[in-house]
Order: sequence, then C-alpha cells, then structure tokens
Amino acid sequence: MRKSTFVALAGIAAVSVALTGCGRADTGAEPEGSGAAPEAGFAADATIGVALPDRTSENWVLAGDLFTNGLEEAGFTGNVQYAGSSNSVGDQQQQIQSMISAGAEVIIIGAADTAQLATQLEAADAADITVIAYDRLIQDSELVDYYVAFDNFHVGELQAQSLLEGLEAQHGDVDTWNIELFSGSADDSNSAVFFDGAMSVLQPKIDDGTLNIVSGQTTVQQTATEDWAAENAQNRMDTILQSSYEGQDLHGVLSPNDNLARAILTSVQGAGRDVPVVTGQDSEVESVQSIVAGVQYSTIYKDTRALVAASIEMAQALQAGEEPTTTGTQDNGAFEVPSNLLEPVIVTQENAAEAYADNEDLAPLTEG
Ligand code: BGC
Repeated sequence: MRKSTFVALAGIAAVSVALTGCGRADTGAEPEGSGAAPEAGFAADATIGVALPDRTSENWVLAGDLFTNGLEEAGFTGNVQYAGSSNSVGDQQQQIQSMISAGAEVIIIGAADTAQLATQLEAADAADITVIAYDRLIQDSELVDYYVAFDNFHVGELQAQSLLEGLEAQHGDVDTWNIELFSGSADDSNSAVFFDGAMSVLQPKIDDGTLNIVSGQTTVQQTATEDWAAENAQNRMDTILQSSYEGQDLHGVLSPNDNLARAILTSVQGAGRDVPVVTGQDSEVESVQSIVAGVQYSTIYKDTRALVAASIEMAQALQAGEEPTTTGTQDNGAFEVPSNLLEPVIVTQENAAEAYADNEDLAPLTEG
C-alpha cells in the first residue's frame, strides 16, 4: 500500500512541513514511523487474506482456525492458506499472489521465509493492499505496513533468565555450568532476534566463566536448526554429545522452542544422561505436560488467541479508516515498521497453573 512509502519518508523527514495533509504526520505529535492514517476504509465484508507458513509448531495450527473463525465473526471474507512443508516458500508466494488477484484489501503474512517476498509485496503495493507481517517480521522492504507479534527479543531474554534460574536451582553446587545453545531456522527473522535476546543475558555469564559452551558453537549460524525441524536439533545434539561431552556433564540447553526442546531431551535421554535444564517456547501440549512432570524446565506462553485478535483488530481499524493500534516500531532493515508487540510470559512448573488459568486447553494439563 502506498502509505508505507509515506511512513518510510516520514522516518527520514519527520520534521518536514511538506508532509502536512498526509494522515497523522500533520499532528506533529506522533512518534516517528508510527504509521500513516489510511486514506479511507473499505467494504465491511472485504476479503482479508491470511498466508501462514508450514505447520512447524502448534501455534501455527491454532492460528489458522482462529483466523478463519475470527474473520468470519468480524464480518470479513477470510481466505486463510498454509504453505506446504515441501515447497513452503513457493507455495506461499503463489498463495499471496492469488489473494492479490482475488482483490483482498489486507493480507496478513506469517512468512515461510522472511526474505523471499519482495515480488509479492511489490504486487500488493501496486494494488493498494495493506500488508501486515504476523509473528515474523518481513525483512528489507518498505512495503510492509504493520507488524503484529509478541516481543521476540524479550522472549529470548526470558528464556535465558529461566535457563540461569534452573541451573542455579538444580546445579547450585557446580562452579561452571556446561551448556549448549540452539537457535531456530535461518530463513525466519525471529531466530536471530530470539538468540540476540538470550545472548544479551548469557554473554556476560560466558565472559565471566559462569557458563561454558563446551562445543565452542556460540554463533547464531553455528547453532541454527534448519526448517525448525526436530530431527535436525536431535542430530546436532547427538553429534555434540559424542564429540564434546565424553566424561563431562551437560547442565543446560538453550532451546528456542518446544518442538526442538523435546528433540534435544530425546537425544540426551537416549545417550543415557541426566536431564539438563532445557528451555522452550510456544506452550505446546506435550511440553506443558513435560514441564508439569518436571522434565522440560520452561516454555514461553505466547497466547495465539491474543495475537490473532490483535491482527483482526488491525484489519477492523483499517476497514473503518482508522489508524490501527501500535506500541512502537521494529526495524526490518529497510525502515521502522509500525508494530503492535504483545508481552510474552515465561512458564515453569511453578507458575504453570496460574499462567494458563484462562486457557481451556492448557489449564487442565496443570491440574492434579
Ligand atoms: C515463532 C515460534 C515458533 C517457530 C517455529 C517462530 O517464528 O515465533 O513461535 O516456534 O517460528 O514454528
């Protein structure tokens, strides 16, 4: 949509009086890059496209149903599509293209690859369609209008804090904790953000010798898990245990999500070792059960219902010709994208019942 070009310009020339008359910049009171007001709304039953990646974690599975039902309830014509796992990037590119051809007013994108949508964003812009990046920030383009997600840097910080807390609780008598780091898929811009958030907490502890990364693999590239695939994490953990841990204990593992956490635990337990402190993310059913049983140490609760609701609210605001709610901006390499970031919650055995109290699927898992 053209207004995103305006947002980018506003970032460069926020003080320029030449911008008066263009949406909210003329109030002079808005933070830089907080978004331009849409020129007008659109039909109440307009088509809203939702392009989701392949189902690499339960949150994506949940999101599809929530979008389908939520868009219908809001009176829109929803068009929700998933990319398939064998050709996720190509599938998604094609799906977005057909949403554009079908006359969608807004396209909400959970990118399969956050760097491979340039052509589709150009086409959406030419058709004056608003693009909302969902959960994963599409990179290096000024044609992303809004971003709605949980605060992913904070997710990483919380994971790292819980890792340290678990190490203290379970291995308080050990001087140096041996740990390993895992990160997500390199084609997902979230992976580096989670990792950077975690390293902002862990690096000082590596520097002062509290933590020892025995494999020596400390960068986001070295620790990446292609396609977020469990088998890749399990294989990497197997290899590290064989090559670096003979005669040594493994005390903890930073895992970026639950699916990989369970794969890492499978590897460690398969090697006949004690269960280390392992972090996670997504509050997947099996991981919540594992946390309650005292195996996986922590997860992150990013309530998918809240994220989908926030996205649909953005579409409703646009439909009404109003400015959607944003909490700030996020840099996507091209500009500061107006963003609505929600707060993630860390969950351990201790607070699981409280954290999931209002979630009818997860709360029962914490009872008894
Ligand atoms: C999401 C995580 C998810 C991962 C793999 C990330 O972009 O933010 O919640 O675990 O993708 O699906």
